Amino acid sequence: MKPCQLTVPGHVRAGENVIEQLSGIIEAERASKVIVFTDEGVLSTGICNGVFEQIKKANAEYCVIGDLRPEPSTQDVIRTMEQMNRAEGELVVAVGGGSVMDMAKLCAAMKGASYDIYDLLENNSLMEKGLPAVMIPTTCGTGSEATFNAIVAVPEKSVKTGIVNKNMLADYVLLDGNMIAKLPPKIIASSGVDALAHVIECFTSNKANVFSDLYAAAGAKLIFENLVRAYSDANDLQAKSNMLLAAFYGGVAIAASGTTAVHALAYPLGGKYHIAHGVSNAILLAPVMRANLEACEDRLALLEDGINPAGYGRAQSEKAKGMIERIASIVSDTGIPSSLCEFGIGLEDLDFLVDAAADCKRLLDNNRRVLTKNDIRAIYQEVIKGGI
Ligand SMILES: NC(=O)c1ccc[n+]([C@@H]2O[C@H](COP(=O)([O-])OP(=O)(O)OC[C@H]3O[C@@H](n4cnc5c(N)ncnc54)[C@H](O)[C@@H]3O)[C@@H](O)[C@H]2O)c1
Ligand SMILES: [Zn+2]
Repeated sequence: MKPCQLTVPGHVRAGENVIEQLSGIIEAERASKVIVFTDEGVLSTGICNGVFEQIKKANAEYCVIGDLRPEPSTQDVIRTMEQMNRAEGELVVAVGGGSVMDMAKLCAAMKGASYDIYDLLENNSLMEKGLPAVMIPTTCGTGSEATFNAIVAVPEKSVKTGIVNKNMLADYVLLDGNMIAKLPPKIIASSGVDALAHVIECFTSNKANVFSDLYAAAGAKLIFENLVRAYSDANDLQAKSNMLLAAFYGGVAIAASGTTAVHALAYPLGGKYHIAHGVSNAILLAPVMRANLEACEDRLALLEDGINPAGYGRAQSEKAKGMIERIASIVSDTGIPSSLCEFGIGLEDLDFLVDAAADCKRLLDNNRRVLTKNDIRAIYQEVIKGGI
């Protein structure tokens, strides 16, 4: 067996109403002041009220950094760090999607630090352990609650990039289905397919191993069984809780393995054209897996066996193609755009896209098929015209 490592947050609690365990965590951490990270979209749903009640129940005070923007940039980090350094508190609680959790993880680790986000971009290893942090995800996609990555947009370079450091691993995670009960179907769809991309990429990655396989295969099964239900029935709390679990599994799989070419090609779409992370990945997932078919046939077939045991006797190539069709169907069944045309991206954007994706070596190196610039160009051409 090849050497591998499983790194998961220390305390993970899942199930409806686990949010009610937050007061016990605050007491255990002996925190008298809590810094809550969230954004306006989350605040407007009222789901933070339960968090505030828990803080009061623990006899702690709190302040809220609540104006965070989606898909944070380096400038956003600098602005939020000014608020963070003024805030008093011994514990960070993040209530939100990947954008909020990434910012909270960065700020918890960087509070009072002498370096800034640009120094970190140059050298990720500068980061030290900062304040303890609790992650409460309110979307069902990024798995940021389980990873030690934070993704930031770098506007000067029109790219998004990952800061990777184990000091950002959350201390506590609360996966409570009630937190995504009012999540708009469009965001359930895009964040859910982001989670699907995480598990498919990790399972087919050069870095795949026994730990990432376990979480990725279980996550894929949960997503194929629950995403369309969670998207189409606002009251299906069981499906939503399962999606929250699947997204967490995806995050654990990323921490143990790594995403591949889907995310590498998606980053320039977020960095320059501001397409939401989940949507970029959804548009690219089936086309990239089609390009990877030969190199990943055995892995895609194995995943298909887990989802569709009745088809076990089919040839490996049939099963792998079946898995790709299954991916394409879930993207179209959840109403996600399938073409970059819809975002005003045309063939004139190809040179930038190809160069920016080819620069994302950290992820392309994980892809089983070596993708040349011509291969990358062919994939973008396909999704500009209308992929899936
Ligand atoms: N760190 C990691 O491991 C990792 C992995 C994948 C993606 N990411 C990053 O995560 C970010 C995307 O995160 P996301 O997809 O979760 O979306 P998001 O956090 O950007 O949120 C999208 C929108 O949904 C709203 N929202 C969130 N929860 C809601 C709720 N329960 N009800 C109503 N509205 C709600 C927010 O207000 C926001 O407007 C990107 O920046 C991406 O690069 C990080
Ligand atoms: Zn992702």
